[in-house]
Formats: sequence, structure tokens, C-alpha cells
Amino acid sequence: MSNKRPGDFRPETLAVAYGYDPQLGMGAAKPPIFMTSTFVYPSAQHAKYVHEAYFDGTGPLVGETNHIYSRLGHPGLDFLEARLAAIDGAEDAVAYCSGMAAHSSIALAYLRSGDSVLHGRPIYGGVDFLYNTMMPQFGTHPTAYLDGTDEDGVRAAAEEAMAKGPLKLIIAETPANPTAAIVDLDLMVRIADEVGAKQGHRPLVVVDNTLLGPFSQRPISHGVDLCMTSLTKYCGGHSDLLAGGISGRKELIDQLKLQRTTWGNHLDPYTSWLVLRSMESVAVRTERAMSNARGVAEFLRDHPKVAGVTYLGFLEPGTRGRAVYDKQCKAAGSTFSFHLHGGEAEAFRMLDQLQLMKVAVSLGGSETLICHSASTTHYAVPREQRLAGGITDGTIRLSVGLEHIDDLIADLAQALEAV
Ligand SMILES: Cc1ncc(COP(=O)(O)O)c(C=O)c1O
Repeated sequence: MSNKRPGDFRPETLAVAYGYDPQLGMGAAKPPIFMTSTFVYPSAQHAKYVHEAYFDGTGPLVGETNHIYSRLGHPGLDFLEARLAAIDGAEDAVAYCSGMAAHSSIALAYLRSGDSVLHGRPIYGGVDFLYNTMMPQFGTHPTAYLDGTDEDGVRAAAEEAMAKGPLKLIIAETPANPTAAIVDLDLMVRIADEVGAKQGHRPLVVVDNTLLGPFSQRPISHGVDLCMTSLTKYCGGHSDLLAGGISGRKELIDQLKLQRTTWGNHLDPYTSWLVLRSMESVAVRTERAMSNARGVAEFLRDHPKVAGVTYLGFLEPGTRGRAVYDKQCKAAGSTFSFHLHGGEAEAFRMLDQLQLMKVAVSLGGSETLICHSASTTHYAVPREQRLAGGITDGTIRLSVGLEHIDDLIADLAQALEAV
């Protein structure tokens, strides 16, 4: 496969082997783990050329793969980033030690004091905190849009953002954590173009593709600038590692890679290997999880103690959300929320009664994880903003795993009796 171009294969095929050439590993069918912090140069002059190529992009070694020190890059990252870029259909990719490391690196790379950022709500609590609490300490201004399918609403929010300062980033998390609210990626690109024409500098459109993952939604094909994925979730897939990836145009990724050298938030060799290995089975794992999720969502929708289920597969034909889903998503995913009649007390009673499902944050693992959003993942988001994003005191997020569907439904059924 190493001689072929990524475009010759479908993403599922690229996920199995792309990015690693057995010749680099003494013929090993699977990539070795290069557990080293530093790399030896054949001569002092060669060392200088390697640094020149890395930092200035000039000299006789440009275009060659040479490593310096693992914080700057290592073979495991090369394999993983090549595979991630190929699967996402992007020119290049960069991997970090967590999804939040990827998000903060984007914020630090593209925002300066006085700049504005536009983001959706709801959005993962950590990203909400990044743009509404952390980055404002460096002088940036957040603005939120509440319905990512409402063209007039998003345009009005973009105007509001521009009034605060130059709009540099448009963040779209779709489907959004925890409610699976959908954002129209074509609309985000259109708004970025309009803003660019007005302010003379086009903001970058950044999409967080964590909840559906690279096989069910392909943001780069919609013209977005950067596609971010928490590899901790479906790509890692076993709740045993933390990692984050960003794919996009080479010039943007080059800039992020160079800055990662200084932030020091690269992905280490062992975890790079683990993610590379897990990428091989993401497509089949998510297929099974998504089929389970539909069964669980249907059970919950019909349950008298449940006030509503926000699951992409239930978007009604004829609605804006459904139109966006049809053009943008290949499948409905396996992370969604349901809202209990009642509030925190009812939710806690139900969670404490579960026998099989694990009460834990995170998603995309092989096991089913369940949590009360308001008191966990979105704890740090002020209540008023949580409610505006559709997260009530009775909202429970589910990440459906690979167990037998009958066992999952039986567990929920007996726990709901406690409500
Ligand atoms: C949508 C989304 N983006 C980003 C992150 C952050 O990823 P990580 O936990 O790998 O830092 C999360 C974590 O839950 C998430 O759900």
C-alpha cells in the first residue's frame, strides 16, 4: 500500500495499513514502537542540515524524513499522522497528547488579544471552558450561536462576534456533546467566506468531529479548514488512552506542528502505536455500536419515564436538522442524550441502579458509558448557558458500546424503575 496514493483506496482500507511501510521496520508487518527520546546523527554537519530543514525548510535535506528529538516528531507520529490525514481526506495531520491539547493548540495558534471566536452551544464542556474562561484571560472574545442550522441566527451571531473584534475562528462541534445537536458545515464555510469578504480576513472553520468520527462524517470534503478529533474516543475505542488529532491543509498543519515543538504536547511513541492499531477496527466497532445505539434509543423513546431522546436517527423528515443530516452524515452515531421526567434526584437514582453500564464520563469506548451531563462533563458551564444549550437537570448522556443489545436494554429497564 505504501506505493499507492490515499485517493486510490476507501477510508476503511486506509485505516488498516496506510502510513506504515514494513521496509522501515526491518520487514515487520506491524509498526515497531520507537521508544526513544532522541535520534543520532551520522555527522555534525548532517545534524545542522536536519535542523535547517526542520526550522527553515531549506537546505539539502528538505523533503527527507529525519528526526531530531521525540517532542519535535518521531516515527510513530509519522505513521499515525499519515493514516489520519489519509482517512480524513486531508493533506496532512498532527497528533497531540489529548483532544483538549489539540483544541488549545488551535486557540493559541490562531487567536491574539482582541480577536473574536464564534462557537456553537452546546459544545463539549472543556471547549466551552477554553473559549469562555481560559482564552478571555488572554484578551479574546467568545460569541455563541445556539442553532447551527439556522442561517440567519448564525449570521447574526457572526455580526455580534465581529463587533467585539476581528473574527478569527468559527468552531463547529457536530453532532454536539451531549445532545447530538447538528451543525451545518456548508453553512459555516459560507459564513466564513462572507465574514472574510467583510473584514478582509477569512476566519478558519474548525470542526470537532469527535462524536461521529472519521467514517461517518467527513468535514474536510465540505471545505472546512481544520478537522479536529479526540482520538481518545472512537478512534482509540477502548477507554484506555488519551490522544487528539487535527487534519487539514499542509500549510496550517505545518504551523501547528512547529508550535507543538514548543508547547510540548505531542503524542508519545507508545500511545501513537496504540491509536494506530485501534484505527484498524474503528469502522467495524462503530458499526456495531451504532446498531446497538438505535435499539437503545428506540427503547428509551417509548419509555414513560423519558421526556425525550436527542438522537440523530430520530430527526424528522422535513426539518432543517434532517436536511443537514442527510447531506453531511453517513450514520447516526452511538452517543446521544435522553431527558428524564424530573431532575437531578431522578437522574441520580437511575444511574445508581445500573448494573452493567458504567457511570463515567468519556465516550466511544467498547463499553457503554453513561453520565449526568449537568453535574459532570458540563459542570463548569454556567446553568443558564447549559439550559440554553438544551442540557437540563434530567439530561443523561449515553455512549453505547459493543455489549449485547438485550443486556443493555434490560439494564436500562431495571434502572428506570428506580426513577
Ligand atoms: C466533543 C469533544 N471534543 C473534545 C474532547 C476533548 O478530548 P480529550 O478528552 O481527548 O482531551 C471531548 C472529550 O470528551 C469531546 O467530547
